[in-house]
Parts: sequence; structure tokens; C-alpha cells
Amino acid sequence: MDLMRDREEISKKLNIGSEVLYLTKQECSNIGITTDRVLELVKEALVAHGKKEYEMPAKIGVHPFSDVFFHAMPAYVPSKKAVGMKWIECYPQNPKKFGIPQTTGLLILNDVLSGCPMAIMDCTWLTAMRTPAVTVLAAGELHPDAETFGMFGCGVQGVEHVRFIVKSLKKLKKIYIYDVVEAAMNHLIETIQPVVDVPIIKGKNPHELAEHCEVLSSATIITKDTLSVVKDEWVSKGQTILPCDLNTFWDPRITKRADKYIVDSIEEHELFDKMGYFPDGLPNIVCETGEILAGVKKGRTSKDELIVCSNIGMSVCDVVMGREIFDIALNNNIGKIIPL
Ligand SMILES: NC(=O)c1ccc[n+]([C@@H]2O[C@H](COP(=O)([O-])OP(=O)(O)OC[C@H]3O[C@@H](n4cnc5c(N)ncnc54)[C@H](O)[C@@H]3O)[C@@H](O)[C@H]2O)c1
Repeated sequence: MDLMRDREEISKKLNIGSEVLYLTKQECSNIGITTDRVLELVKEALVAHGKKEYEMPAKIGVHPFSDVFFHAMPAYVPSKKAVGMKWIECYPQNPKKFGIPQTTGLLILNDVLSGCPMAIMDCTWLTAMRTPAVTVLAAGELHPDAETFGMFGCGVQGVEHVRFIVKSLKKLKKIYIYDVVEAAMNHLIETIQPVVDVPIIKGKNPHELAEHCEVLSSATIITKDTLSVVKDEWVSKGQTILPCDLNTFWDPRITKRADKYIVDSIEEHELFDKMGYFPDGLPNIVCETGEILAGVKKGRTSKDELIVCSNIGMSVCDVVMGREIFDIALNNNIGKIIPL
């Protein structure tokens, strides 16, 4: 559908230029997009990124306190007619201090032809979905025959990572999880074990996961200080590590000695490096995750390679997800149309 026809279709329901569709967190999460569809959409976004068919400047941000950030994340993905911006914060102390999530935010979706805002939606659900989708799509490319997966951090992202991982690692026999908060591990198992056939095992400590699992991911906290929870000597050749919390959780020597250090966006990682999030220096980057998904670059080329694939989050995935949520909501009269 060309841009003009697309706009005409939308205009049957929404007066572009004088109205916007507002969608709450609950409306977004109940929209009916399946895990399989999330994977399709995120793959399309990653492939567009890998083929350089997108516009996405690195995140800019403001920082009211030293350990927090707000990010403005604009993107345009022409193949999906998706243009907009996510405005998201990360306040790591929110759960402890206020009993609320560390990450909240909004996504604004615009009309490509006129630029007018068409929708404002909560972005928590789409972020919770697109992040594990990137990890598991990468895992499927880099380590498709893995039998063991380990997840560090059992919060919003950890839960969804475990839900998603079985979609791409079809030979999994065991999933190990670890969190400093016992209740978070229990919650993950209660929520996900009923929908995932692979046994989910509570790890006793990070060492156990690092030793037992071929593929590992982490979704804990992002800080400028390196926590080095997983020690270099626990990690071996042949493993695949997929952090979505930068390098905070891992001994920096792991990424430095990895045979391949792959990232979702080189620009984003260079920006975080400049902000001080890689105190030991940014490792040498070989390529981007989307390039592997698009078949432009090779992922794993030998069983012995230690691969680290760091995905810090890209707005190309957000606007593609946002556009799908918007289309479904508009067609099904979900949400509230409000004047501009
Ligand atoms: N890459 C991306 O696109 C992306 C997107 C969203 C969130 N994130 C990041 O993912 C991380 C997790 O986000 P979330 O929304 O799931 O947060 P959350 O607060 O819901 O969960 C984090 C979990 O990590 C656990 N944890 C903290 N320190 C730990 C440690 N040392 N060892 C083990 N467990 C530990 C906490 O107890 C908590 O259960 C954050 O750093 C966030 O910034 C990344």
C-alpha cells in the first residue's frame, strides 16, 4: 500500500492533524499480538536495520541524577511506514524506592506524509516484547542447537526472555534462571513454566549458570560501574552471551577476549561508551545484529567461538511495534481518540 492510500485508510477513522489515538498500557498489552507476530515484526525491523534501510540517530538523553537516564528514541522504517519516537526513562532504584518499575515511557507515532502525530501510547509492553525478541532472534542465528539457556535477572525482561527463548532455540532441554531476589525467580517460574515445556531450574548462584549454559542472557541493571558478577574464568569457548543490560553484569575481560563482539547498533554503543558506560573501553565490534539477520554478515563460523552479542535497544523495533499496535487498535476501535 503506498503512503497516500495508507493515509486515506487511517483518515477513515482518525482526523489526522486534529486528532490522536491514545492507548493505555493495558490496551497495548491486550491488543492481541502473539509472540510469533512480535518475532516477525522485530525481525523485519532488524533486517531493515541490517540493510541500512532506516533512519535512527543514536539516543539522546537527559540525566537528572547520575545513575538515571531519559532517552529520546526516534526512528523511521520506510518499509513499514513507521515513523515516531519513544521517550523512555530508566531509574534503576524505582522498584526499591517507590515500588514501581525501573522503566516507563511513551511512544508517539506520526503520519509519514504530513508529519502529524497520530498516536500516543504507553511503551512498556512493546519494550517488554521487542527486547527479548531481539535477544532470541540473535540466539537463533548464533546458537540454534543450544540445549541449555541461562537467564540472569528475572524481572520484566527476564520473564519475557524465558517465554520467548523456546521459540528460537528449539532443542533446549533446560533453562536456568538466577536473580538476587528469590521472589523474582519464583514469580518467573509460576508465570512461565505453565506455558513453556522446557524445565526451568532455579540456579544457586551465577557461577552455576555460567558453567552449565551454552547460551546466556542478562537483564539486570545498567550502571556505569562494572559489577563483574560473571567472572571471566567461568566462561568458556563456544558459549553465546546476549546481554540487554550493556556490559554491567559481566567481567569486562569476557567481551575483550570474545572471538566476536556483535552489537545491535554501533552508534548506540559508541554513544554509551562516550557517556562512560564502558569504563574498561568499548570492545572491538565486528558487526551488527541486524546484518546477521539480513544475511549481510556471518554470525558464528565455528563451534569454538565465544560470542557476545549486546543489544541495548533500537527505536526501529519500537516504531515497527508501535505501528502494528496502532493499526490493530484503529481497526478495532480500541483506545480513545482525543483532540490535538
Ligand atoms: N536492551 C534493551 O533494549 C532494554 C530494554 C528494556 C530494559 N533493558 C534493561 O534491562 C534491565 C532489566 O530491565 P527490567 O525492566 O526487566 O527490570 P526489572 O527491575 O523488572 O528486573 C531486573 C531484575 O534484575 C535483578 N537483579 C538486579 N541485580 C542483579 C544481580 N546482580 N544479579 C541477579 N539479578 C539481579 C533484580 O532483582 C530484578 O529482578 C535493565 O537494566 C533495563 O535498563 C534493556
